[in-house]
Amino acid sequence: MRDPRPLLVFDSGIGGLSVLRPLRALLPTAPIVYVADSAGYPYGTKNAAEIEARVPALLGRLAERFDPELIVIACNTASTIALDVVRAALDLPIVGTVPAIKPAAAVSQTRAIGVLGTEATVRQPYVDRLAAEFAADCTVVRHGSAELVDLAEAKLRGERTDPAAFARILDALYASEGGARIDTIVLACTHFPLVEDELAAASARPIRFVDGKEGIARRTAWLTRDHVWPAEAPEGRAVFTGRTTAIEPYRTGLAAFGLTRVETL
Ligand code: DGL
Repeated sequence: MRDPRPLLVFDSGIGGLSVLRPLRALLPTAPIVYVADSAGYPYGTKNAAEIEARVPALLGRLAERFDPELIVIACNTASTIALDVVRAALDLPIVGTVPAIKPAAAVSQTRAIGVLGTEATVRQPYVDRLAAEFAADCTVVRHGSAELVDLAEAKLRGERTDPAAFARILDALYASEGGARIDTIVLACTHFPLVEDELAAASARPIRFVDGKEGIARRTAWLTRDHVWPAEAPEGRAVFTGRTTAIEPYRTGLAAFGLTRVETL
């Protein structure tokens, strides 16, 4: 019998691990191939044309190599720019990750929502559409931070991060026009839930953080509901696309997410 086909979870770096955790809770024995496009990291400082050129081509190659049951694009930047192109190019289910503006609008009391993402994500028309459709009566304040992505990567490598850095990033959001009223922040980059505790501790005022990871896990479980998974979880694989990335510092952090086999393409 052939090996069961895996779920392929994809991000530019380790951000998709925030999605992997609830996914594992729902599908504990599903084989996982986690791909970090370290050769293309970071995505958030690239323009839409670069992402549109890179992501569908790379996912096509990964689909051929790993023959996944389904791909989770656990990256807001890639999803808000390239989800439609990827879906058109690949003949398998693709679950994307888009900023959780709808759930944030459902809970905001002040009707002022912060969207904290990468620089690329926060300027996407996709975000305009989500805001118009689901948060028309809210002020939606956006802030892009590449530094916060790097901080999440550093944390996973076991490095110390500076609380003042998190405070500075939040303060920039609060200082934007309309920012003083924000009571809810959408973590619109999958790296950011991995540093949610640090953000909460650094915030100048109490704030609610919202993201879409649980919904992505539920959607994936639903789309694979007829699939028979193995009785026991096979070893989780983490694959880096760039040979130049030093993968050693990531090993312990990846193992905490069940990814004990680490390799580079
Ligand atoms: N984790 C990614 C996202 O959700 C992108 C981080 C980056 O490469 O800039 O947007």
